[in-house]
Amino acid sequence: MVDVLLGLQWGDEGKGKIVDRFSPDYDLIARFQGGPNAGHTLYVDGQRIVLHQIPSGIFHPHTDNLIGGGVVLDPVTLHQEFDKVSAFGIDATKNLCISERTHLILPTHRALDKASEANKGDDRIGSTLKGIGPAYMDKTGRNGLRVGDVLEKDFTTRYIRLRLKHQKLLDALGFTEDITAWEEEFFGALELLRRLRIVNGEYYINDRLSRQCRVLAEGAQGSMLDVDFGTFPFVTSSNTISAGVCTGLGVPPQKIRDVIGVTKAYCTRVGGGPFPTELHDETGERLRAAGHEYGATTGRPRRCGWLDGVALRYACMINGVTQLVVTKADVLDGFATLAACEAYQIDGEERAEVPYHLSRKPVVPQYRFFDGWMTDTTQYNDYAQFPSQMKKYIRYMESSLSTRIAFVSNGPGRDQLIRMPVA
Ligand code: GDP
Ligand code: IMO
Ligand code: MG
Repeated sequence: MVDVLLGLQWGDEGKGKIVDRFSPDYDLIARFQGGPNAGHTLYVDGQRIVLHQIPSGIFHPHTDNLIGGGVVLDPVTLHQEFDKVSAFGIDATKNLCISERTHLILPTHRALDKASEANKGDDRIGSTLKGIGPAYMDKTGRNGLRVGDVLEKDFTTRYIRLRLKHQKLLDALGFTEDITAWEEEFFGALELLRRLRIVNGEYYINDRLSRQCRVLAEGAQGSMLDVDFGTFPFVTSSNTISAGVCTGLGVPPQKIRDVIGVTKAYCTRVGGGPFPTELHDETGERLRAAGHEYGATTGRPRRCGWLDGVALRYACMINGVTQLVVTKADVLDGFATLAACEAYQIDGEERAEVPYHLSRKPVVPQYRFFDGWMTDTTQYNDYAQFPSQMKKYIRYMESSLSTRIAFVSNGPGRDQLIRMPVA
Protein backbone atom coordinates (compact mmCIF):
# COMPACT_ATOMS: atom_id res chain seq x y z
CA MET A 1 0.00 0.00 0.00
CA VAL A 2 0.95 3.62 -0.54
CA ASP A 3 0.32 6.45 1.90
CA VAL A 4 0.70 9.97 0.62
CA LEU A 5 1.95 12.93 2.64
CA LEU A 6 1.51 16.33 1.06
CA GLY A 7 1.12 20.03 1.81
CA LEU A 8 -2.33 21.61 1.87
CA GLN A 9 -1.28 25.27 1.63
CA TRP A 10 1.31 27.13 -0.45
CA GLY A 11 4.24 24.90 0.54
CA ASP A 12 6.63 24.83 3.53
CA GLU A 13 4.06 23.22 5.81
CA GLY A 14 6.80 21.15 7.48
CA LYS A 15 6.49 18.08 5.25
CA GLY A 16 10.19 17.21 5.51
CA LYS A 17 10.17 16.95 9.29
CA ILE A 18 7.07 14.77 9.29
CA VAL A 19 8.35 12.44 6.54
CA ASP A 20 11.64 12.05 8.42
CA ARG A 21 9.75 11.24 11.61
CA PHE A 22 7.41 8.74 9.89
CA SER A 23 10.16 7.06 7.79
CA PRO A 24 10.95 4.20 10.20
CA ASP A 25 7.38 2.95 9.60
CA TYR A 26 7.93 2.69 5.83
CA ASP A 27 10.15 0.65 3.52
CA LEU A 28 10.29 3.23 0.76
CA ILE A 29 9.91 7.02 0.58
CA ALA A 30 9.18 8.28 -2.93
CA ARG A 31 9.15 11.83 -4.27
CA PHE A 32 6.57 12.05 -7.09
CA GLN A 33 6.79 15.62 -8.43
CA GLY A 34 8.60 18.93 -8.17
CA GLY A 35 12.32 19.35 -8.07
CA PRO A 36 14.92 21.55 -6.39
CA ASN A 37 12.28 24.24 -5.86
CA ALA A 38 11.42 22.18 -2.77
CA GLY A 39 13.27 22.82 0.47
CA HIS A 40 12.48 20.25 3.15
CA THR A 41 14.06 20.92 6.53
CA LEU A 42 15.03 18.11 8.89
CA TYR A 43 16.95 18.02 12.15
CA VAL A 44 19.37 15.13 12.36
CA ASP A 45 21.40 14.79 15.57
CA GLY A 46 20.32 18.32 16.37
CA GLN A 47 21.77 19.63 13.10
CA ARG A 48 19.59 21.36 10.51
CA ILE A 49 19.66 19.99 6.98
CA VAL A 50 17.61 21.10 3.98
CA LEU A 51 16.83 18.59 1.23
CA HIS A 52 15.81 19.72 -2.24
CA GLN A 53 16.01 16.62 -4.43
CA ILE A 54 16.61 13.65 -2.17
CA PRO A 55 13.52 12.25 -0.37
CA SER A 56 13.31 12.96 3.35
CA GLY A 57 13.72 9.29 4.34
CA ILE A 58 17.42 9.30 3.46
CA PHE A 59 18.63 9.35 7.07
CA HIS A 60 17.02 6.03 7.90
CA PRO A 61 19.29 3.19 6.75
CA HIS A 62 16.44 0.65 6.60
CA THR A 63 14.29 2.88 4.40
CA ASP A 64 14.85 3.14 0.65
CA ASN A 65 14.28 6.34 -1.27
CA LEU A 66 13.07 6.85 -4.82
CA ILE A 67 13.11 9.93 -7.01
CA GLY A 68 10.11 9.21 -9.22
CA GLY A 69 9.56 9.89 -12.90
CA GLY A 70 7.28 12.86 -12.15
CA VAL A 71 10.16 14.76 -10.56
CA VAL A 72 12.48 17.13 -12.44
CA LEU A 73 16.08 16.59 -11.44
CA ASP A 74 18.99 19.00 -11.38
CA PRO A 75 22.11 16.77 -11.23
CA VAL A 76 24.11 19.64 -9.73
CA THR A 77 21.75 19.99 -6.76
CA LEU A 78 21.69 16.22 -6.40
CA HIS A 79 25.48 16.14 -6.30
CA GLN A 80 25.66 18.84 -3.63
CA GLU A 81 23.04 17.06 -1.58
CA PHE A 82 24.78 13.72 -1.96
CA ASP A 83 27.86 15.31 -0.39
CA LYS A 84 25.74 16.90 2.35
CA VAL A 85 24.20 13.59 3.45
CA SER A 86 27.57 11.84 3.13
CA ALA A 87 28.86 14.16 5.84
CA PHE A 88 26.29 12.45 8.12
CA GLY A 89 27.66 9.03 7.20
CA ILE A 90 24.90 8.26 4.68
CA ASP A 91 25.93 6.54 1.46
CA ALA A 92 23.13 7.42 -0.95
CA THR A 93 24.46 5.00 -3.57
CA LYS A 94 22.88 2.37 -1.30
CA ASN A 95 19.44 3.64 -0.28
CA LEU A 96 18.57 6.05 -3.11
CA CYS A 97 17.39 5.22 -6.60
CA ILE A 98 16.15 7.35 -9.46
CA SER A 99 13.62 6.58 -12.15
CA GLU A 100 15.03 6.62 -15.66
CA ARG A 101 11.93 8.60 -16.72
CA THR A 102 12.81 11.56 -14.47
CA HIS A 103 13.34 14.66 -16.60
CA LEU A 104 16.58 16.57 -16.32
CA ILE A 105 16.90 20.25 -15.52
CA LEU A 106 19.60 21.64 -17.80
CA PRO A 107 21.62 24.81 -17.15
CA THR A 108 19.64 26.47 -19.96
CA HIS A 109 16.38 25.68 -18.11
CA ARG A 110 17.67 27.71 -15.19
CA ALA A 111 18.67 30.49 -17.56
CA LEU A 112 15.25 30.39 -19.22
CA ASP A 113 13.53 30.58 -15.83
CA LYS A 114 15.58 33.65 -14.96
CA ALA A 115 14.99 35.30 -18.35
CA SER A 116 11.29 34.55 -18.31
CA GLU A 117 10.82 35.98 -14.83
CA ALA A 118 12.81 39.10 -15.74
CA ASN A 119 10.61 39.60 -18.81
CA LYS A 120 7.39 39.31 -16.79
CA GLY A 121 8.32 42.36 -14.71
CA ASP A 122 5.60 43.09 -12.12
CA ASP A 123 3.64 40.00 -13.22
CA ARG A 124 6.47 37.63 -12.33
CA ILE A 125 5.57 34.43 -10.50
CA GLY A 126 8.40 34.81 -8.01
CA SER A 127 9.72 31.40 -9.04
CA THR A 128 12.63 29.81 -7.22
CA LEU A 129 14.71 30.26 -10.44
CA LYS A 130 15.63 26.57 -10.36
CA GLY A 131 14.47 25.94 -13.93
CA ILE A 132 11.28 24.11 -12.90
CA GLY A 133 8.85 25.73 -15.36
CA PRO A 134 11.12 25.41 -18.42
CA ALA A 135 11.99 21.78 -17.59
CA TYR A 136 8.33 20.78 -17.30
CA MET A 137 7.62 22.75 -20.50
CA ASP A 138 10.19 20.61 -22.30
CA LYS A 139 8.54 17.52 -20.88
CA THR A 140 5.04 18.42 -22.08
CA GLY A 141 6.53 19.91 -25.25
CA ARG A 142 8.21 16.53 -25.82
CA ASN A 143 11.73 17.89 -26.04
CA GLY A 144 13.19 17.06 -22.63
CA LEU A 145 16.07 14.78 -21.74
CA ARG A 146 15.60 12.13 -19.09
CA VAL A 147 17.81 10.45 -16.53
CA GLY A 148 17.90 7.24 -18.58
CA ASP A 149 19.30 9.25 -21.49
CA VAL A 150 22.54 10.02 -19.65
CA LEU A 151 23.51 6.36 -20.05
CA GLU A 152 23.16 6.54 -23.85
CA LYS A 153 26.08 7.20 -26.19
CA ASP A 154 24.35 10.03 -28.04
CA PHE A 155 23.52 12.01 -24.86
CA THR A 156 25.93 14.87 -25.62
CA THR A 157 24.64 15.24 -29.18
CA ARG A 158 21.08 15.42 -27.94
CA TYR A 159 22.09 17.85 -25.21
CA ILE A 160 23.72 20.17 -27.78
CA ARG A 161 20.66 20.02 -30.03
CA LEU A 162 18.35 21.04 -27.17
CA ARG A 163 20.79 23.65 -25.96
CA LEU A 164 20.79 25.31 -29.39
CA LYS A 165 17.01 25.45 -29.31
CA HIS A 166 17.13 27.04 -25.86
CA GLN A 167 19.76 29.53 -27.02
CA LYS A 168 17.33 30.92 -29.61
CA LEU A 169 14.75 31.46 -26.89
CA LEU A 170 17.34 33.02 -24.58
CA ASP A 171 18.44 35.38 -27.36
CA ALA A 172 14.84 36.41 -27.95
CA LEU A 173 14.43 37.10 -24.23
CA GLY A 174 17.61 39.19 -24.17
CA PHE A 175 19.51 36.85 -21.82
CA THR A 176 23.23 37.52 -22.12
CA GLU A 177 24.81 35.87 -19.06
CA ASP A 178 27.61 33.38 -19.66
CA ILE A 179 26.53 29.96 -18.40
CA THR A 180 29.72 28.05 -19.24
CA ALA A 181 30.47 27.50 -15.54
CA TRP A 182 26.95 26.10 -14.99
CA GLU A 183 27.48 23.69 -17.88
CA GLU A 184 30.82 22.49 -16.51
CA GLU A 185 29.18 21.81 -13.16
CA PHE A 186 26.32 20.03 -14.91
CA PHE A 187 28.57 17.65 -16.85
CA GLY A 188 30.64 17.03 -13.71
CA ALA A 189 27.49 16.14 -11.78
CA LEU A 190 26.38 13.69 -14.48
CA GLU A 191 29.35 11.54 -13.51
CA LEU A 192 27.82 11.01 -10.07
CA LEU A 193 24.36 10.47 -11.52
CA ARG A 194 25.69 7.62 -13.68
CA ARG A 195 27.04 5.94 -10.54
CA LEU A 196 23.69 6.03 -8.72
CA ARG A 197 20.99 3.38 -8.96
CA ILE A 198 18.98 4.29 -12.05
CA VAL A 199 15.89 2.09 -12.18
CA ASN A 200 12.73 1.51 -14.14
CA GLY A 201 10.70 3.37 -11.50
CA GLU A 202 7.24 1.99 -12.19
CA TYR A 203 8.38 -1.66 -12.18
CA TYR A 204 10.56 -0.99 -9.15
CA ILE A 205 7.74 0.43 -7.05
CA ASN A 206 5.07 -2.03 -8.19
CA ASP A 207 7.41 -4.92 -7.50
CA ARG A 208 7.99 -3.57 -4.00
CA LEU A 209 4.23 -3.17 -3.52
CA SER A 210 3.60 -6.74 -4.62
CA ARG A 211 6.00 -7.79 -1.85
CA GLN A 212 3.87 -5.93 0.74
CA CYS A 213 6.30 -3.04 1.13
CA ARG A 214 4.98 0.07 2.82
CA VAL A 215 5.49 3.15 0.64
CA LEU A 216 5.18 6.80 1.62
CA ALA A 217 4.83 9.24 -1.28
CA GLU A 218 6.38 12.58 -0.27
CA GLY A 219 4.77 15.65 -1.80
CA ALA A 220 6.63 18.84 -2.59
CA GLN A 221 5.17 22.36 -2.70
CA GLY A 222 1.52 22.56 -1.65
CA SER A 223 -1.97 22.00 -3.03
CA MET A 224 -2.56 25.71 -3.68
CA LEU A 225 0.53 25.68 -5.94
CA ASP A 226 -0.83 22.81 -8.09
CA VAL A 227 -0.65 23.68 -11.78
CA ASP A 228 -4.31 22.72 -12.33
CA PHE A 229 -5.98 23.54 -9.02
CA GLY A 230 -3.77 26.20 -7.45
CA THR A 231 -3.92 29.97 -7.77
CA PHE A 232 -3.01 29.98 -11.46
CA PRO A 233 -0.85 31.48 -12.90
CA PHE A 234 0.94 31.88 -9.56
CA VAL A 235 1.62 28.16 -9.22
CA THR A 236 4.38 25.68 -9.85
CA SER A 237 4.43 23.49 -12.96
CA SER A 238 3.49 20.09 -11.55
CA ASN A 239 0.53 18.31 -9.96
CA THR A 240 1.23 18.64 -6.28
CA ILE A 241 -2.04 16.98 -5.24
CA SER A 242 -2.61 13.28 -4.53
CA ALA A 243 -3.49 12.60 -8.17
CA GLY A 244 0.15 13.38 -8.99
CA VAL A 245 1.22 10.26 -7.12
CA CYS A 246 -0.23 7.98 -9.79
CA THR A 247 1.33 9.81 -12.73
CA GLY A 248 4.54 10.63 -10.89
CA LEU A 249 5.27 7.11 -9.67
CA GLY A 250 3.22 4.79 -11.85
CA VAL A 251 1.15 3.37 -9.02
CA PRO A 252 -2.54 2.61 -9.57
CA PRO A 253 -5.06 4.64 -7.52
CA GLN A 254 -6.42 1.56 -5.68
CA LYS A 255 -3.02 1.16 -4.01
CA ILE A 256 -3.37 4.49 -2.21
CA ARG A 257 -4.51 4.10 1.40
CA ASP A 258 -4.08 7.23 3.53
CA VAL A 259 -3.65 10.77 2.27
CA ILE A 260 -1.98 12.69 5.06
CA GLY A 261 -2.45 16.43 4.64
CA VAL A 262 0.01 18.73 6.38
CA THR A 263 -1.00 22.26 7.32
CA LYS A 264 0.50 24.90 9.54
CA ALA A 265 -1.70 26.24 12.34
CA TYR A 266 -1.57 29.54 10.39
CA CYS A 267 -0.57 30.23 6.79
CA THR A 268 2.40 31.35 4.72
CA ARG A 269 3.26 31.88 1.09
CA VAL A 270 6.53 32.73 -0.65
CA GLY A 271 6.62 34.34 -4.09
CA GLY A 272 3.84 36.21 -5.87
CA GLY A 273 0.13 35.53 -6.09
CA PRO A 274 -3.04 35.86 -4.07
CA PHE A 275 -3.06 35.16 -0.34
CA PRO A 276 -6.42 36.24 1.08
CA THR A 277 -5.50 36.00 4.78
CA GLU A 278 -2.09 37.68 4.46
CA LEU A 279 -1.33 40.12 7.28
CA HIS A 280 0.53 43.25 6.20
CA ASP A 281 0.79 44.50 9.74
CA GLU A 282 2.76 43.97 12.91
CA THR A 283 0.95 40.65 13.59
CA GLY A 284 2.22 39.32 10.24
CA GLU A 285 5.75 40.35 11.17
CA ARG A 286 5.40 38.66 14.56
CA LEU A 287 4.30 35.44 12.88
CA ARG A 288 7.34 35.62 10.57
CA ALA A 289 9.68 36.18 13.49
CA ALA A 290 8.13 33.51 15.75
CA GLY A 291 7.96 30.94 12.94
CA HIS A 292 11.36 31.82 11.40
CA GLU A 293 9.48 32.17 8.14
CA TYR A 294 12.27 32.52 5.60
CA GLY A 295 12.42 30.30 2.51
CA ALA A 296 14.44 27.08 2.93
CA THR A 297 15.43 27.21 -0.77
CA THR A 298 15.79 30.91 -1.53
CA GLY A 299 16.02 32.56 1.91
CA ARG A 300 13.23 34.96 0.92
CA PRO A 301 10.96 36.21 3.73
CA ARG A 302 7.70 34.28 3.65
CA ARG A 303 4.44 36.18 3.60
CA CYS A 304 2.43 35.32 6.74
CA GLY A 305 -1.22 35.33 7.71
CA TRP A 306 -4.04 33.56 9.52
CA LEU A 307 -5.39 30.13 8.77
CA ASP A 308 -7.44 30.01 5.57
CA GLY A 309 -10.24 27.50 6.14
CA VAL A 310 -11.74 28.03 2.68
CA ALA A 311 -8.51 27.07 0.92
CA LEU A 312 -7.91 24.20 3.37
CA ARG A 313 -11.38 22.70 2.83
CA TYR A 314 -10.75 22.89 -0.91
CA ALA A 315 -7.37 21.19 -0.52
CA CYS A 316 -8.89 18.41 1.63
CA MET A 317 -11.53 17.88 -1.04
CA ILE A 318 -9.29 17.63 -4.10
CA ASN A 319 -6.74 15.44 -2.31
CA GLY A 320 -9.14 13.12 -0.48
CA VAL A 321 -7.29 13.83 2.76
CA THR A 322 -7.93 11.09 5.34
CA GLN A 323 -5.95 12.60 8.22
CA LEU A 324 -4.28 15.86 9.08
CA VAL A 325 -1.00 16.83 10.66
CA VAL A 326 -1.00 20.37 12.10
CA THR A 327 2.48 21.84 12.30
CA LYS A 328 3.96 24.92 13.97
CA ALA A 329 1.20 25.11 16.58
CA ASP A 330 3.89 26.38 18.99
CA VAL A 331 4.43 29.45 16.80
CA LEU A 332 1.05 30.71 18.06
CA ASP A 333 2.15 30.39 21.71
CA GLY A 334 2.62 34.14 22.17
CA PHE A 335 -0.50 35.44 20.41
CA ALA A 336 -3.37 36.66 22.64
CA THR A 337 -5.90 36.46 19.79
CA LEU A 338 -6.02 34.12 16.81
CA ALA A 339 -8.18 34.19 13.72
CA ALA A 340 -9.32 31.68 11.12
CA CYS A 341 -10.97 32.57 7.82
CA GLU A 342 -14.35 30.87 7.38
CA ALA A 343 -15.51 32.45 4.12
CA TYR A 344 -14.37 34.87 1.41
CA GLN A 345 -16.26 38.01 0.53
CA ILE A 346 -15.90 38.71 -3.18
CA ASP A 347 -17.82 41.47 -5.01
CA GLY A 348 -19.83 41.95 -1.80
CA GLU A 349 -20.95 38.31 -1.72
CA GLU A 350 -19.96 35.72 0.85
CA ARG A 351 -18.49 32.56 -0.64
CA ALA A 352 -17.40 29.29 0.94
CA GLU A 353 -15.62 28.14 -2.24
CA VAL A 354 -12.26 28.94 -3.80
CA PRO A 355 -13.07 30.71 -7.08
CA TYR A 356 -11.05 29.97 -10.20
CA HIS A 357 -10.23 33.68 -10.46
CA LEU A 358 -8.74 34.09 -6.99
CA SER A 359 -5.81 35.80 -8.70
CA ARG A 360 -8.00 38.47 -10.25
CA LYS A 361 -10.51 39.72 -7.69
CA PRO A 362 -10.00 41.28 -4.26
CA VAL A 363 -11.04 38.96 -1.43
CA VAL A 364 -12.12 40.07 2.04
CA PRO A 365 -11.67 37.20 4.50
CA GLN A 366 -14.49 36.62 7.00
CA TYR A 367 -12.82 35.70 10.28
CA ARG A 368 -13.72 33.82 13.41
CA PHE A 369 -11.63 34.85 16.40
CA PHE A 370 -10.18 32.72 19.20
CA ASP A 371 -8.42 33.37 22.48
CA GLY A 372 -4.76 32.41 22.35
CA TRP A 373 -3.17 30.21 25.02
CA MET A 374 -0.16 32.39 25.86
CA THR A 375 1.87 29.41 27.14
CA ASP A 376 5.08 27.78 25.94
CA THR A 377 3.97 24.45 24.45
CA THR A 378 7.28 23.32 22.95
CA GLN A 379 8.06 20.86 25.76
CA TYR A 380 4.69 19.11 25.69
CA ASN A 381 4.48 15.48 24.67
CA ASP A 382 0.84 14.72 25.37
CA TYR A 383 -2.44 16.22 24.23
CA ALA A 384 -3.64 16.24 27.84
CA GLN A 385 -1.07 18.99 28.54
CA PHE A 386 -2.59 21.37 25.96
CA PRO A 387 -4.17 24.49 27.46
CA SER A 388 -7.95 24.56 26.94
CA GLN A 389 -7.71 27.40 24.38
CA MET A 390 -5.28 25.32 22.31
CA LYS A 391 -7.56 22.29 22.45
CA LYS A 392 -10.44 24.50 21.31
CA TYR A 393 -8.47 25.86 18.34
CA ILE A 394 -7.21 22.43 17.25
CA ARG A 395 -10.65 20.84 17.62
CA TYR A 396 -12.13 23.75 15.66
CA MET A 397 -9.70 23.02 12.79
CA GLU A 398 -10.70 19.39 12.88
CA SER A 399 -14.44 20.02 12.82
CA SER A 400 -14.33 22.82 10.24
CA LEU A 401 -12.28 20.61 7.90
CA SER A 402 -14.32 17.48 8.70
CA THR A 403 -11.04 15.56 8.87
CA ARG A 404 -9.33 13.92 11.79
CA ILE A 405 -6.14 15.54 13.10
CA ALA A 406 -3.73 12.70 13.83
CA PHE A 407 -0.73 14.72 15.04
CA VAL A 408 0.14 18.20 16.23
CA SER A 409 3.72 19.39 15.81
CA ASN A 410 5.08 21.69 18.53
CA GLY A 411 8.61 22.44 17.34
CA PRO A 412 11.07 21.68 14.54
CA GLY A 413 12.70 18.72 16.32
CA ARG A 414 12.02 15.11 15.37
CA ASP A 415 10.48 14.38 18.73
CA GLN A 416 8.26 17.43 18.89
CA LEU A 417 5.18 15.65 17.57
CA ILE A 418 2.11 14.85 19.62
CA ARG A 419 -0.29 12.08 18.71
CA MET A 420 -3.90 13.16 19.06
CA PRO A 421 -6.32 10.97 20.96
CA VAL A 422 -9.27 9.78 18.91
CA ALA A 423 -12.08 12.19 19.84
P1 GDP B 1 8.57 21.76 3.96
O1 GDP B 1 9.00 22.40 2.69
O2 GDP B 1 7.09 21.50 3.99
O3 GDP B 1 9.36 20.55 4.34
O4 GDP B 1 8.82 22.85 5.11
P2 GDP B 1 10.14 23.77 5.26
O5 GDP B 1 11.26 22.94 5.75
O6 GDP B 1 10.36 24.59 4.05
O7 GDP B 1 9.64 24.80 6.34
C1 GDP B 1 9.18 24.39 7.60
C2 GDP B 1 10.03 25.09 8.68
O8 GDP B 1 9.39 24.99 9.93
C3 GDP B 1 11.39 24.47 8.86
O9 GDP B 1 12.30 25.46 9.26
C4 GDP B 1 11.16 23.47 9.98
O10 GDP B 1 12.34 23.17 10.71
C5 GDP B 1 10.17 24.20 10.82
N1 GDP B 1 9.20 23.39 11.54
C6 GDP B 1 8.60 22.23 11.17
N2 GDP B 1 7.68 21.87 12.08
C7 GDP B 1 7.69 22.81 13.06
C8 GDP B 1 6.95 23.02 14.25
O11 GDP B 1 6.05 22.26 14.61
N3 GDP B 1 7.26 24.13 14.98
C9 GDP B 1 8.21 25.01 14.63
N4 GDP B 1 8.43 26.06 15.39
N5 GDP B 1 8.93 24.84 13.50
C10 GDP B 1 8.66 23.78 12.72
P1 IMO C 1 8.39 23.00 -0.56
O1 IMO C 1 8.40 21.59 -1.10
C1 IMO C 1 7.03 27.12 -1.05
C2 IMO C 1 6.67 28.65 -5.13
C3 IMO C 1 7.65 29.72 -5.57
C4 IMO C 1 6.79 30.46 -6.59
C5 IMO C 1 6.00 29.33 -7.25
C6 IMO C 1 6.62 28.86 -8.56
O2 IMO C 1 9.58 23.39 0.19
O3 IMO C 1 7.09 23.23 0.18
P2 IMO C 1 8.75 27.40 -9.17
O4 IMO C 1 10.18 27.58 -8.84
O5 IMO C 1 8.17 26.11 -8.70
O6 IMO C 1 8.46 27.63 -10.64
O7 IMO C 1 8.00 28.58 -8.40
O8 IMO C 1 5.98 28.28 -6.33
N1 IMO C 1 7.31 27.42 -4.61
C7 IMO C 1 7.32 27.08 -3.31
N2 IMO C 1 6.87 27.75 -2.22
N3 IMO C 1 7.56 25.89 -0.90
C8 IMO C 1 7.98 25.20 -1.98
O9 IMO C 1 8.40 23.91 -1.90
C9 IMO C 1 7.92 25.81 -3.25
N4 IMO C 1 8.27 25.44 -4.50
C10 IMO C 1 7.88 26.42 -5.31
O10 IMO C 1 8.01 30.53 -4.49
O11 IMO C 1 5.87 31.29 -5.93
MG1 MG D 1 10.02 24.11 2.04
